[in-house]
Amino acid sequence: MSLFNVYPLFDITPVSAKGIHVYDDNNVEYLDLYGGHAVISIGHSHPKYVSAISNQVEKLGFYSNAIQNPLQVELADKLETLSGCKDYQLFLCNSGAEANENALKLASFHNGKTKVLSFKNSFHGRTSAAVAVTDNPKIVAPINTQQDVDFLELGDLEAVEIILKQGETCAIIIEFIQGVGGLDQSTTEFYQGLGKLCKQHNTALIADEVQSGFGRTGDFFAFQKHNITPDIISIAKGMGNGFPVGGILIHPSIKASFGLLGTTFGGNHLACAATLSVLEVLEEEQLMENAKTMSAYFQDKAKSLPNLKSIKGRGLMLGLEFDFPISDLRKKLIFDHHIFTGSAKNPNLLRILPPLTIQKKHIDLFFEALEIELV
Ligand SMILES: Cc1ncc(COP(=O)(O)O)c(C=O)c1O
Repeated sequence: MSLFNVYPLFDITPVSAKGIHVYDDNNVEYLDLYGGHAVISIGHSHPKYVSAISNQVEKLGFYSNAIQNPLQVELADKLETLSGCKDYQLFLCNSGAEANENALKLASFHNGKTKVLSFKNSFHGRTSAAVAVTDNPKIVAPINTQQDVDFLELGDLEAVEIILKQGETCAIIIEFIQGVGGLDQSTTEFYQGLGKLCKQHNTALIADEVQSGFGRTGDFFAFQKHNITPDIISIAKGMGNGFPVGGILIHPSIKASFGLLGTTFGGNHLACAATLSVLEVLEEEQLMENAKTMSAYFQDKAKSLPNLKSIKGRGLMLGLEFDFPISDLRKKLIFDHHIFTGSAKNPNLLRILPPLTIQKKHIDLFFEALEIELV
């Protein structure tokens, strides 16, 4: 049987990884400034992570959500403490798209409305409602077009008000820093305005923190810089450091009832053990602080790059926007310098999404490679 050929692959076969490095089948070492698409948070094969998962699978890897699972309770408590999202409730699932799917569904259950407001250049996943609120017609199948979605320019608060006044919008879904779209963000004034309008018009505000969450921006969540209170927060990616896990944090004003949401695998014992170890390492190794310090160091070095139009993003969710398409540069970085970076919808933007354990010496290596390629 052949593989369904949907991914344009680089001809590299990683077989192991440690910290910020990935090793291929010829034992070539790669510097991972991509983190497997913003997934690796505490570093590859972190010993605490490895032993948490190994110990758990020896005891109990999975049982369904029909029994007590104290690991879920422990995870919810630890997440509340570290994120500072007091009194939110946790529902666990398996991926970012699934988190957004549940977030949108819950918003609609809560206020009984059907429309969604999303923003240009957004990415929220590939499942039914999640892909419908994603601004990329190429990945929206005819069956997904049943959802009623308005797409507005990021920052256009007046347009948001006009839509919400119609009274049909169950949720606004937003990435506080756009990931796939190219690291754009709006102002605190805009985000606070969204929060106010949502309250005024009984619309849920969903913060998609799938990529920006779990410390990547230097705050636990990207929205926290703007001092707002989302109704629902979606999480995945860095949460499991590679273990497939996702979830939503739900404001106490939204009440649960039996059967409202559900999943077979979500919140299983292994996923909880993996996520708990991620939270422990984030705290013990002060990785949010490190994200801030390394971000400042990176941005300072980037300032003197030739052909650079702008530095976008925050913390270790960064984009270097050049005045030329970066696809050749990205290939040279991989094949000549053995450095993984990411691309975006914006063809001129190189994405930097390293493990939060990155150090100055790794950043130096990246800029040495750029110096060679950008002359
Ligand atoms: C902001 C955001 N939301 C949702 C998703 C979808 O996550 P997943 O691929 O785990 O379904 C992604 C994936 O890149 C993302 O960046």
